[in-house]
Amino acid sequence: MFARRAAQRLLEIRQVFRQSPQVSRSFSSALNYHIDTPDNNPNNQWKFTETNNQKVKEILSFYPSNYKQSAVIPLLDLAQQQHGGWLPVSAMNEVARIIEVAPIRVYEVATFYSMFNRSKVGKYHLLVCGTTPCMIRGSREIEEALLNHLRVKRNEVTKDGLFSVGEMECMGCCVNAPMITIADYSNGSEGYTYNYIEDVTPKRVVEIVEMLKRGEKPPPGTQNPNRFKCAPEGGNKTLLGEPKPPPCRDLDAC
Ligand code: FES
Repeated sequence: MFARRAAQRLLEIRQVFRQSPQVSRSFSSALNYHIDTPDNNPNNQWKFTETNNQKVKEILSFYPSNYKQSAVIPLLDLAQQQHGGWLPVSAMNEVARIIEVAPIRVYEVATFYSMFNRSKVGKYHLLVCGTTPCMIRGSREIEEALLNHLRVKRNEVTKDGLFSVGEMECMGCCVNAPMITIADYSNGSEGYTYNYIEDVTPKRVVEIVEMLKRGEKPPPGTQNPNRFKCAPEGGNKTLLGEPKPPPCRDLDAC
């Protein structure tokens, strides 16, 4: 039954893609390759700040000196925090220099993990989950609502620099699908946070964008007032009584 509904939904989605040039135009390949630009090319100087240099030393101290390359992910993460939520190629080269590997080794990591952004993102990078359960529950419509409301393509930044919309694979909240994550880079080098916003609708994501514009923090978790955390909508349907103790717990009575 579920498989039939899923197949039907996928067919509908394909149909929407075929029929709507607006939806196909919403895709941008901004993160698929690197092209030198004035603010992202290997000739730009990039160094960790004095404070972050102390953090680099601390991170490297966690690894044996002949395994420096194991620090690649925390160092890229630190570089991304320092650079306002994205990693220019010169920052990746600096990380490669510090851990003494060929730059390609760092590029491989940065291109594999979707938490690393290789082009500018907004202060709020809105990541729509695009995996099957969220897609069946309407993630394409969520993305379309965001792109239309913000008037951008996927991975483009709004003119005020506040928002960008990206896609992420399953973030483990399928039970409350569809969901988005707000990668919040508004604290600059203080670090960033990821907030899960679940059970969203096209109307609700637009409200969330407006809350962020006003400087408000949208409530994390489910947006469905009839659901408690990830319990069934409307309350528990099963296991309603007190759980019975296991048999023979009272050893004297056995
Ligand atoms: S499919 Fe979207 S959170 Fe798992």
